[in-house]
Amino acid sequence: MSATVDAEAGVRADPAFRRDVLRGLAQAQKAIPARWFYDLRGSELFEQITELPEYYPTRTEIALLKQHAADIAAYVGRGRAVVEFGSGSSTKTPLLLHAIAPSAYVPIDISGEFLRDSASRLAATFPDLPIAPVEGDFTRPLALPSMAGAGLPLGFFPGSTIGNGSAFSSVDLLRAMAETLGPDALLLIGIDRRKPLAVLLSAYDDAVGVTAAFNLNLLVRINNELDGDIPVERFRHRVSWNDGQNRIEMHLAAQDDIAFTVAGQRFAMRAGETIHTENSHKYSRDEALLLLRAAGWQVEEDWADDAGWFGLYLARRSPPSIQD
Ligand code: TRP
Repeated sequence: MSATVDAEAGVRADPAFRRDVLRGLAQAQKAIPARWFYDLRGSELFEQITELPEYYPTRTEIALLKQHAADIAAYVGRGRAVVEFGSGSSTKTPLLLHAIAPSAYVPIDISGEFLRDSASRLAATFPDLPIAPVEGDFTRPLALPSMAGAGLPLGFFPGSTIGNGSAFSSVDLLRAMAETLGPDALLLIGIDRRKPLAVLLSAYDDAVGVTAAFNLNLLVRINNELDGDIPVERFRHRVSWNDGQNRIEMHLAAQDDIAFTVAGQRFAMRAGETIHTENSHKYSRDEALLLLRAAGWQVEEDWADDAGWFGLYLARRSPPSIQD
């Protein structure tokens, strides 16, 4: 996934990164897939974002997991195999594992590096828990490792990561998860809600500029790995609310007319023109229930904080019936 360092050539680019960037910069509305944010520096900056006072989702979801651990455990029962989509966070995953006494832990991530990291962290805290990491792309159905004694799966998808895709692709993703987990699965998923605009905007544009640095780091990464000469200091982090799509958008806006080269190709941008780098869709409770139902998941219990800013949903597979 990440670029490898070559002694002679310096940093060697991931061909998929090169392809996505060159394609994305050639579009009328320039756009780069958000997955490329997460090089080492990007991952560090994202960790810092989750600790910002403005960034309410992480601490709100952690509080929900703590507050409702007993309810979750009562519904889920003992001996489920926890299947986490994305590398486990050092705070949320142990909270869940402590609460429900699982039979196994299966983290799935496209990056083997993150996977090994989170697996060894968890192994130190839970020495008796079988851990079976799967390196792979969870947007497609995957085969889970057959672990002796492992119980029925409980999928875990925190962080409102589901909101980073459109509703269209999120239904596909939730269906792929259903297929990966099988007919008797449960899913525990965190989904962020719409809230006063000032709160939303500052969560993605904090006062000290960590989120700006996170966004701009994508340009630094392009320069480093794709032999680019983008004048990073002439771009600004720009955050907006798209009301028709119910989402926060992050862009990188050119401050004046700019020309640059990436991987030998020339690009030009006008003052004010942007590169679209991320979306974060927000769903009301009703919308979240419908999104899940559209993908074959029936919500059985759900929780939110008092302000109603963030929802945590526990859903069960609801296979299609003959009347569908
Ligand atoms: N899923 C989170 C969210 O949308 C994480 C995230 C993605 C994020 N890109 C971000 C958070 C940029 C802050 C800034 O909130």
